[in-house]
Amino acid sequence: MKKDLLGLKDMTAAEIEEILNLAAEMKKILKQGVKKTPHMQGKSVVTLFYENSTRTRMSFETAAKFMSASTSNIAVANSSVQKGETLIDTGKTLDSLMTDIIVLRHSVGGALQLLARNVRARVINAGDGFNEHPTQALLDMFTLRERFGTLKLKVAIIGDIKHSRVARSNFWGLTKMGAEVRVCAPGTLLPMGIEALPVKTYATPREAAKGADAVMALRIQLERQQGGLFPSPQEYHAFYGIDRELLKVCDKNAVILHPGPINRGVEIASDVADAENSLIGEQVFSGIAVRMAVLFMLK
Ligand code: CP
Repeated sequence: MKKDLLGLKDMTAAEIEEILNLAAEMKKILKQGVKKTPHMQGKSVVTLFYENSTRTRMSFETAAKFMSASTSNIAVANSSVQKGETLIDTGKTLDSLMTDIIVLRHSVGGALQLLARNVRARVINAGDGFNEHPTQALLDMFTLRERFGTLKLKVAIIGDIKHSRVARSNFWGLTKMGAEVRVCAPGTLLPMGIEALPVKTYATPREAAKGADAVMALRIQLERQQGGLFPSPQEYHAFYGIDRELLKVCDKNAVILHPGPINRGVEIASDVADAENSLIGEQVFSGIAVRMAVLFMLK
């Protein structure tokens, strides 16, 4: 394992498999109801989030606490960042405070590399701009592998691809693990240069989802766009929302994924989010195991 976990683009299939295998062991522990292990005794983990989060931050903190690490969260809004402290100086301060691992979320793609190069602590990417969200993709892959026993699957990713770091990490991760990744979005929500990525673009959700083993819905990231990229949430839902009709064209055993947070009635119909084949809750649970594995491997 390298010093830091910055993305899946530069990771090999063997490295991804090693994390997923360890996460499977961690999940066995969690399923026994164990919430305290000695895996990270004496280690210190800091979550440093420059953007909002519920799942990722809580999941990392929970994983670290369950493994007996000491944990701290820097609420950027109440920190010395507000007095003009730079990311590197904040990182160096955390080094001086004997931090072993910094879990960073930042609105700027590439901020992770900058921090990682300048601190002694190991750095984990909890989402950087449009770039990558590697532990989300790892938990998505973990959830699929747990359900199907393989990642040689057809996965349709439908929604705001352009602004999604989850999509990018999944493109790299899933394809390295043998999946066929299909994408569909309005033209305004597809990134420039999508042809260079290891995915196939489809004109309609029905074409993308035909025979798919899994459909992943992505939220429209209103916080990262100026507006005007689609007419209205209602119209978006009518053309691109994941609903029961769309599921009819998928494989009969298909599952629904969503990284969260979900916007019911926009990218996903409310009844589909809560359907039996929705793995959204399982993704969050598996996220603890995946983050336990990642933290333990980097400690
Ligand atoms: N999936 C995800 O990153 O969710 P949060 O923004 O709540 O962390």
